[in-house]
Amino acid sequence: MHVNKPLTLLGGISPAEFMSTYWQRKPLLVRQAFPQFKALLSRSELFDLAQHNEVESRLVMGTNGGQRDWRMQRGPFKRRAIPKLTERDWTLLVQGVDLHDDRMAALMHQFRFIPDARLDDVMVSYASDGGGVGPHFDSYDVFLLQAHGQRRWRIGRQKDLSLVPEMPLKILAHFRPEQDWVLDPGDMLYLPPRYAHEGIAQGECMTYSVGFRVPQTGDLARELLVRLSEGAEDTAGGDLYKDASQAAVSHPAQVPQGLNEFARLALQKSLKDPKALQRALGEYLTEPKANVYFEMGDAPHQLKSVYLDRRSKMMYDAQHIFLNGESWRAAGKDAVLMRQLANQRCLSAEDLAKASADAVSLLLEWCDDGWLHAGA
Ligand code: SIN
Ligand code: CO
Repeated sequence: MHVNKPLTLLGGISPAEFMSTYWQRKPLLVRQAFPQFKALLSRSELFDLAQHNEVESRLVMGTNGGQRDWRMQRGPFKRRAIPKLTERDWTLLVQGVDLHDDRMAALMHQFRFIPDARLDDVMVSYASDGGGVGPHFDSYDVFLLQAHGQRRWRIGRQKDLSLVPEMPLKILAHFRPEQDWVLDPGDMLYLPPRYAHEGIAQGECMTYSVGFRVPQTGDLARELLVRLSEGAEDTAGGDLYKDASQAAVSHPAQVPQGLNEFARLALQKSLKDPKALQRALGEYLTEPKANVYFEMGDAPHQLKSVYLDRRSKMMYDAQHIFLNGESWRAAGKDAVLMRQLANQRCLSAEDLAKASADAVSLLLEWCDDGWLHAGA
């Protein structure tokens, strides 16, 4: 991607300018970010997806006007559990649609001027007239693309993010909108984290939210420490605590000082190898979501071209290649080729002509796993 090239998607500014001026800072409304946009998924295709166990979906009902009362149910939803289209004020939200539809994955990939490690998923909402999820804020950045019909968005910078207690949804107690727009198909609104907003459907409405993954220190530390401790067991066989000098105790409930020191050293040891930390991070970032299963593929006899499955997550760092939660050390020509695959998500016949025998056998293995597919 050319980061300095102006994009219609961003209202004529470049990704570089967007990142330095708006990202994580301030909202951006782009009229006709996708000119003549047609919804990629029909209403019935979305309702079909919401029937599946492995698809995360929610139904939100709110009464419009006066005092609102919010209700929320979690999917899967049989078709008959979805309210009538003529009924007002309901929304069906379907998460991770990019995992199930190539067109949705391609739409999300238009935002790859932001690192893959940050891109999360595309959520699709379908709402009847008056439908919405109430005034709220999200903890991540979001691009809200109007896909079908109209939605009125009201947004505000407010600092008071207190919530209405005992609601099934996060609803702001004191929403103070400052800007108000009606979005048509193809229009898009970017919002940074914690920006107050409310979108209300005007007639039948579909909105796509391109959402981001926000690593949070506590979660990240837990994930990394689990992975690092597994690595430490593999290599050291796990050193055992020794306390030959332990004196007899009259306060048996007290934690021995020696054990504190042992614990500190154990953590220090697992963090000692910087490559182990890099590996743990890459494996964690590319771990497929819990509901993703790959069907075994058929490796072809000869590779002409290859492309990554839409659900595959591939990243790299200076020493490693990561794919779907696994890592490989890579250097030289092979690393260049694998990085190219990770960035482009495909390799042409010309690219493959430069591949070593080892690289080709790894690519064939990934085809078998269903992570990579052979092109024409
Ligand atoms: C929606 O699409 O209804 C809600 C999206 C959001 O407010 O984040
Ligand atoms: Co939101």
